This record gives sequence, C-alpha cells and structure tokens, in this order.
Amino acid sequence: MKVLVIGGGGREHAICTAVKKSKKVSELYCAPGNAGIAKIAKIVNIGVMEFERLADFAKENKIDLTIVGPDDPLVGGIVDVFEEKGLRVFGPRKNAAILEGSKAFSKDLMKKYNIPTAAYETFDNADDALDYLKTAPMPIVLKADGLALGKGVLICNNLKEAEDGVKEIMLDKKFGNAGNKLVIEEFMTGREVSVLSFVDGKTIKTMSSAQDHKRAKDNDEGLNTGGMGNFSPSPFYTEEVDRFCKENIYQRTVDAMAKEGREFKGVIFFGLMLTEKGPRVLEFNARFGDPEAQVVLTRMKSDVIDVMEACIDGKLSETPVEFYDNAAVCVILASDGYPLEYKKGFEIKGLDALEDKDDYYCFHAGSKFSEDGKVLTNGGRVLGITATAPTLKEARRKAYEATEWVSFDNKYMRTDIGKAIDEA
Ligand code: AMP
Ligand code: GLY
Repeated sequence: MKVLVIGGGGREHAICTAVKKSKKVSELYCAPGNAGIAKIAKIVNIGVMEFERLADFAKENKIDLTIVGPDDPLVGGIVDVFEEKGLRVFGPRKNAAILEGSKAFSKDLMKKYNIPTAAYETFDNADDALDYLKTAPMPIVLKADGLALGKGVLICNNLKEAEDGVKEIMLDKKFGNAGNKLVIEEFMTGREVSVLSFVDGKTIKTMSSAQDHKRAKDNDEGLNTGGMGNFSPSPFYTEEVDRFCKENIYQRTVDAMAKEGREFKGVIFFGLMLTEKGPRVLEFNARFGDPEAQVVLTRMKSDVIDVMEACIDGKLSETPVEFYDNAAVCVILASDGYPLEYKKGFEIKGLDALEDKDDYYCFHAGSKFSEDGKVLTNGGRVLGITATAPTLKEARRKAYEATEWVSFDNKYMRTDIGKAIDEA
C-alpha cells in the first residue's frame, strides 16, 4: 500500500522508519519531510497546514493511508478535510484533537469525569486572574489555553512572577490567541512519565512508557524546550502505577470523549506526574510525542500499520500491540541557543557512521539539503541520536557514544539524559 506521513521532524522520521518496516507498505511519501526522511521516503513539498493541497496530493497519488504527525494540523482539522474527501487517515478529528488544543477543555473534562489531575481555575480576563492570584498558594502554574509550541506553561515561584506571567499571556499575548483563556493550576511535584496509547474510539492500548527531559540544560535547568532527549521504558512506571492509571485514567478518558460526542481515534499521549498522592495527569496530547516516538516506536514489535488500521476501523480490541523487552535512549543534538535564538545552515558531518548500523538510529529533526547536496542544520533541534539495547544503561552508553560520530558547528546536547536510570 501507499502511505503518506505528514510532518518534518524527528517524530515523523521515527514514524516513517516504523512504517517502512511494515510488509504491507510498498511506497512511502512524506510532506514536507527533511534531509534524513528523504533517504527512506519520497519528499512532497507541501506544508503541514495546506490541508486542501495535501488531500489533493493523496487523492491524485492514490495514497491508501495518511498519518498525521504534528499537533497544529490535527487541532486545525486536517483529518476532517481528508475524511470529507473519502481518504483514509490516522489521527483524531478536530472535535477530538481539542483534547490537546484547549487546556481549559481538557481540565473541564477531567473534572467532569473524575480523572485525577491538579486542581485549577479557568479565566478569560486578566483582572479576574490577577484577583485570584492574591490568595493563591505559591508556587503556582499558569497555562495558556491553546497551542504554544510547548512553551505556554509558566511555573511561578511567587506572586510577582505569577502577575507578570498573567500579563505576558493575557495582555501582551506572548502566545497569541492561545492566551485568550488561562488555566491557573496547583503546583505538583514528582517524577514525570509519558505514556502514549493507540485508541480506536472505544478501546485503548498503551505503548511502552518513556521519560522526557524538557529543560534545555543539564540538571533540568534552563528553559522549557520541545524535549532534549528521553528514554523508554521508565523504570518508575511500575505495575502498580500502570494498574492505577488503567483503572482511573486511560479508559476513563476514552469513554469521556465518546460520551461528549468526540470519539477519539489516533494516539493519546498522557503526560503524567507520579505525585505522593498517586499519578496525576499533567497534560494530554493528541499525537505521538517528539522525541517520545523516537524511543517508543523503535521498540515496537507489532506492525504499526496493522495497529493504525485497527484504530481507524474500530478493531483495536482484536489487534495485538506488542513491544520488545528492551530499552532505548534518544539524545537530541541541538543548535546552541535553542529554544531561543540559534543559527542554522551548518553542514552536518559524519552521518554515514550511523547508517545501516543495527540498534542505532539518527532521526533528523531539523535538517535540509544544500543546493550541492550537503546536509545542513535547519532547526533548533537537529538530530535525535537513538540507540536500543537490552538494558537502559547500555542504550544510554551507545546513544552517547554515537553522538560523537556526527559533528556540526554550534552542536549542543545535554550530557545527563537518562541520569534518572541510576536512581531506579
Ligand atoms: P505541559 O505542557 O502541561 O505538560 O507542561 C509542561 C511542563 O510543565 C510539564 O512537563 C511539567 O514539567 C510542568 N508542569 C505542568 N503542569 C504542572 C503542575 N501542575 N505542577 C508542576 N509542574 C507542572
Ligand atoms: N516531548 C513532548 C511532546 O511531544 O509534547
């Protein structure tokens, strides 16, 4: 069959790699892709928000299945556009992608259906929010309602920081319309775990767990980023935690969406915090994580196309979703300066060393070809160097070993990805 993947980051490179392994797939396309994806898929030069052009391309080229990677097109309703044209597509419709697209929606859903999460209030004007802060306990968490590239969450240590945050989000509109509404939330502490799952509207099957490293610098210092590296599985995601989440979070979320008339088909990503009082939901995403896809999909044993088709057809209960009993670690090589200002356009050298090597993957997050065919850096996150091994420690050793094989100007990485493994 012919498959089209939409997106052009490390997540989509990992999705393409998994799709390529499926015996069912004869041709793979990716729009807009990147220089790494170009090695395994035909590149289609259409942007992720150009829904009509993408759907026309899928129709004209007889694409059998389209897989949508990023949040923006999902929240914007790309799946509805494809379905209206009779195209098969993997991902939630617009009315279900709101699970990620609006934090106020997701918090209200959790409250209504008793899904454990931090206590919160929602505001649609700055004066009320500022009033509320006067008697609120500190630290406190501010969340812009809409999509903000993972940057719309502010942890405020005191009243002054919180007041400044409200002004930035609601009055200065630092995140644009994403800040029309604000969620103010109780500050929680604990380890974070990401659990991705396949959902067919009724049935949910979780993938192996992962742990992200969101801050830019070692020891979780610096600004929040899209993710600087991660590992899977999380040793802190114990059977007991899994049981609690199965009973109180996963199925309840899927059922709640169905009851609201917002049947969810696709991937739900549960961002969880393991607090002293038990697991709590930090956030939902309506897609694979980036870089969670890089460590989770490389460990997937089942054919990803079989599972995605089962989600579309409502047959997930009859379809196995299995993972290898191994581990994976991904270290992001970024351009120094990310997530703020950074330079791009530097040649990436040494990529050959990672090619066709068992257990090693070099997922491109931000790369492009120069006119003379060199591979250049083209983003804040550049490469996701990933390795699998029987144990987490061995996967970490291999991933860091491979980070030395590639070089480019302004190369930057965290040196402590997976440090928590030693505490398990
Ligand atoms: P989110 O985009 O909602 O996952 O938030 C980004 C990051 O902010 C999370 O990964 C946490 O590290 C942190 N965070 C979000 N909500 C809370 C909370 N209620 N308490 C403490 N930290 C939080
Ligand atoms: N790595 C976090 C995310 O994809 O949202």
